Amino acid sequence: MSDRGSYTSMEKVIDESKQGDSLVLDQKEGNKRKLFIESYGCAMNFSDSEIVASIMANQGFNTTQKLEEADLVLVNTCSIRDKAEQTVRKRLEKYNAVKRDHNPKMKVGVLGCMAERLKTKFLEEEKIVDLVVGPDAYKDLPNLLAEVDEGRDAINVILSKEETYGDIAPVRLNTNGVTAFVSITRGCDNMCTFCVVPFTRGRERSRDPQSIIEEINDLWNKGYKEVTLLGQNVDSYLWYGGGLKKDFVKASDIQKATSVNFAKLLELCALAQPKMRIRFSTSNPQDLTLDVVETMAKYYNICNHIHLPVQSGSNRILKKMNRLHTREEYFELIDNIYQIIPDCAISQDMIVGFPTETEEDFQDTVSLMEYVKYHFGYMFTYSERPGTMAGRNMEDDVPEPLKKRRLAEIVKLQQEHSGQRIKEHLNTVVEVLIEKESKKSNLHWSGRTPQNTVVVFPKEKYKVGDLVDVKTTDCTTATLIGEAVGYSKNN
Ligand code: SAH
Ligand code: F3S
Repeated sequence: MSDRGSYTSMEKVIDESKQGDSLVLDQKEGNKRKLFIESYGCAMNFSDSEIVASIMANQGFNTTQKLEEADLVLVNTCSIRDKAEQTVRKRLEKYNAVKRDHNPKMKVGVLGCMAERLKTKFLEEEKIVDLVVGPDAYKDLPNLLAEVDEGRDAINVILSKEETYGDIAPVRLNTNGVTAFVSITRGCDNMCTFCVVPFTRGRERSRDPQSIIEEINDLWNKGYKEVTLLGQNVDSYLWYGGGLKKDFVKASDIQKATSVNFAKLLELCALAQPKMRIRFSTSNPQDLTLDVVETMAKYYNICNHIHLPVQSGSNRILKKMNRLHTREEYFELIDNIYQIIPDCAISQDMIVGFPTETEEDFQDTVSLMEYVKYHFGYMFTYSERPGTMAGRNMEDDVPEPLKKRRLAEIVKLQQEHSGQRIKEHLNTVVEVLIEKESKKSNLHWSGRTPQNTVVVFPKEKYKVGDLVDVKTTDCTTATLIGEAVGYSKNN
C-alpha cells in the first residue's frame, strides 16, 4: 500500500494508524490528570476511544502522547484474530516496563473486545491491569475510576441492549481535521460462525438519526469535509424509537411508519450537509439492499465505494460460515451495483483456511475474485476464536502452511486486480479531497477519490480540506499520481 489504504475498512486502520499518538484538539482547561489512550483493531474501536476521551475529559483528564507522564493508560483492544490479542499482550509488557522504570503511579485499564472476552481473567492474568471495561460500559468509567483511585481493581463488562453513546460528543483523536468517523450502530446480530464480535459487542442497536445528523452538522461547522458512518453491519440500521431490531415487529404503526432504515439515513445525511462527503462501512451482502445503492446513485456526496466482505467464494463454506447468501446471489448483487453505479468501487474481506476448506472451495474463492475484480481488499487466514460456533464445533483442520499459501495466492491476485482497476482512472480527471501531506514527499498532498483511491499530487496553492480536480498521469497498484488542474466545482 502506498500513502494510505482505506479508512472505510474497519480492519485496515490497524496497520495504518500510529497507535498511541493521540493528538487532541480540544484539551479541557483546568484538567490536571493525564490520559494516554491507544486503540487497536477496527474503526469502531478508534471511534469508541473518542467517546472515552470525552468522558474522561469530564473527569479531569487531558490526553498525552507520553506514556512516561500518564496517570492513566487505557488500551482499546481487539479480539478478532489471535494475533490482534497477542499485540495487546505485548503492549501490556511495555506498560509494565514503563511503570517499573519511570512512572510507578501509572494505572492501566483495558477497554474493548478483549476486556469483554476475558473479563476477570484479565485481572488475574495480567498484574499490570487495574481496570477492565467492556464496550458498552464506558459511561461507568467515572465510578470505576473512583474504585481504582482507592486502590481497588475495577471491572464492568455488562453488555447493553440500548447503549449507543448517541448523547456523547466525541473528542476527536489523531484527527486530520478533514475526515471523521460517526458511529451509527453498535453490536451485531449476524452470528457468522467464525466471528467473535457478536460476543464481545453484543446485540445490534441503532443510534437515533437526530443525534447522527447533529454530529455531522457539528463536524461540518468545525471544518470537516468527510464522514464515514460506522457499524459492523450498516445496512441493517433501523431506528424506530430505540430498542433491538428483532423487536421491531412489536412496534406500533406510528413507529413503523416513521422508522428510518439505512437507505433513508443515508439520504438524511446527504441532504443535511450536501457538500460533506459521506462514506459508510461495513456492508454485509445479505443485508445490502438496492435502495441503498439507488440512494448512493442519487446523491453526489455519497461516495461510490462499497466495502462488501464476502469471506469465501464457496457455497459450501459460506453456509458453514452462516453467511446467508450464495455465491450466485452475490454475483447478482455485484451485477446490480455495477448497473446502477458503473464506476462504483467494491472492496472485500476474505478468509482462507476456514475449517474443511478444500482446494476446490479455495478455487471458488479465486474464481469469485476473478468475476468481481475488486478494487482492493483485506485478506486473512482463519484464526479460531474461543466461544464462537466454529471455535466450539469445528476443527481448525487446514494446516497453517496451506492457509499461508492460499493467502499469498489471493493477495497476489488482488494486487493484479487493484492494478487493473486503478488503471481505469489513469489519464482522467479525478476529484480529490486533500487530507494530508504525502508520506513520501513534503511537496505533495495526499487525498482520496470518491472511490477511495489514494491520489498524490504537487501541493501548489491548495490546502488540506480542499476538493481538487487532479489529472492523473501515473500510478502504482494502490496510488494515482497526477497534477491539480483546479478546484472541483463541488469545492
Ligand atoms: N462486520 C465487520 C466485520 C468485522 S471483522 C466489519 O464491519 O468489518 C473484519 C474482518 O475480519 C471480517 O470481515 C473477516 O474477514 C475477518 N475475520 C473475522 N473473524 C475472523 C477470524 N476468526 N479469522 C480470520 N479472519 C476473521
Ligand atoms: Fe462478525 Fe459477521 Fe457481524 S463478520 S461483525 S458476525 S456480520
